[in-house]
Amino acid sequence: MKKFLAIAFISISFSSMAQDMPDDFLSSEFHQERRGLVREKMPKNSVAVFFANPVRNRANDVDYVYHQDPNFYYLTGYKEPHAVLMIFKEEQDGPDGTYDEIIFIQPRNAMAEMWTGRRMGIGGVKEKLAFNQVFNNTDFEDYNIDFSKFDKVLFYDFFDDVRDTKTEGDLYDLIASFKTKAGYPTEGDLTIESSANNLDMETLDQIMKDLRGIKTKEELDLLRKAVDISCIAQVEVMKAMRPGMSEFEIQGLHEFIFKKYQAEYEGYPSIVGAGNNGCILHYIENYKPEVSSDEMILMDLGAEYHGYTADVTRTIPVDGKFSKEEKAIYDLVYKAQDEAIKACKPGVNIQRDLDFGIARRIINEGLAELGIIDSATQRHLYYPHGLGHHIGLDVHDKGNYEYLEAGMAITIEPGIYIPEGAKCDEKWWGIAVRIEDDVLITEDGYELLSDLAPRKSEEIEKMMKEPSPLDSFVLPDLDKE
Ligand code: GLY
Ligand code: MN
Ligand code: MN
Repeated sequence: MKKFLAIAFISISFSSMAQDMPDDFLSSEFHQERRGLVREKMPKNSVAVFFANPVRNRANDVDYVYHQDPNFYYLTGYKEPHAVLMIFKEEQDGPDGTYDEIIFIQPRNAMAEMWTGRRMGIGGVKEKLAFNQVFNNTDFEDYNIDFSKFDKVLFYDFFDDVRDTKTEGDLYDLIASFKTKAGYPTEGDLTIESSANNLDMETLDQIMKDLRGIKTKEELDLLRKAVDISCIAQVEVMKAMRPGMSEFEIQGLHEFIFKKYQAEYEGYPSIVGAGNNGCILHYIENYKPEVSSDEMILMDLGAEYHGYTADVTRTIPVDGKFSKEEKAIYDLVYKAQDEAIKACKPGVNIQRDLDFGIARRIINEGLAELGIIDSATQRHLYYPHGLGHHIGLDVHDKGNYEYLEAGMAITIEPGIYIPEGAKCDEKWWGIAVRIEDDVLITEDGYELLSDLAPRKSEEIEKMMKEPSPLDSFVLPDLDKE
């Protein structure tokens, strides 16, 4: 009995320890393999240099929540700032033998960690991220490397918008040291002659597009979760929607559900626009205090789960029933989207085949039939954006666009936006519809990832009749006398 209790106690304490952090992040093997693939694609006698994202200041002594650069995360799994990674095509000689990759990270610091959170430190990065050569960023300045011996030094150019935090070894210092070591032209001396001629700021992006554009099974597990969570949020909002709610409140409900499922962030600022606000493609103010029963609301939201972001848009009638005009536009966008989705398969081009060949043609013909434009060939601004893009660690993810390949994850998102004052019958004014779904390209076609959220007009109306737990969630009225 005693033994059983001891075992039970140990397993309880282990399981409570394990709950400090989720345990379903990308594995260190994934990141290690990706570094190997970058190395394979690098030209001979080259080095690739990647920097962590900068910390961004919000105001005074408050910074924005830190988010790692997606390339850096993809290759390392390191989520902290002030770091630099180097991948070498060939083995390099070091004091303790040879190595083909090295990372400089922010040092442990008890005082800093007490205020701003845990750091992995050298030991953590060696153990959890499977690196052998790990040093503190303060050692980068003295790191002995002769960049001139490489045929190519591959890196992304700098925007020069990194703050000097005055902490030794911060990103500002890392970039300054790299520029000096590699012969990057300095300010005031921007002549081509002054810079080393082996600097290459183009090749790395193509390598990253080739890799990140095709998702592995491990990545897809996380992406599927992000998409499912986003769809469940759309469904719960469909049930909870009532005239008089605010755009913020609706956004908050989505984002609560993201957090409920442990999705850390929104992959991009949530777009929640009622009526004419839906005509602003990236409307993120979400300020309207009361949405009204005679309008639709366009909701473009994506949960980011362990780095991977969904991108799902639903447009629904606030009162649960599409008006005649709303339904005409909605069903037209649906038809354009549905036919484009069904044509997804390896070898097709998103813009040429799916957008101009299918979605845009259907929308133009439909708009002409409804009398909103004079003819299907008339130029107009009612569908002003592209049909889709890759999704992944970025909402507009890195990837190639020449033709679709198995393993690509993309959005299909046609829309029609008719702002107030548009040159058509005013019964159409303020109608804005985007339907956006996430699609995985498979060997012989596609898989619709975002099928948990209804997108047919009749199915949306049916879902909106379902009861919502929010119906009984009543808070005190702050304006009451
Ligand atoms: N949410 C941004 C986009 O749909 O591309
Ligand atoms: Mn999108
Ligand atoms: Mn979107």
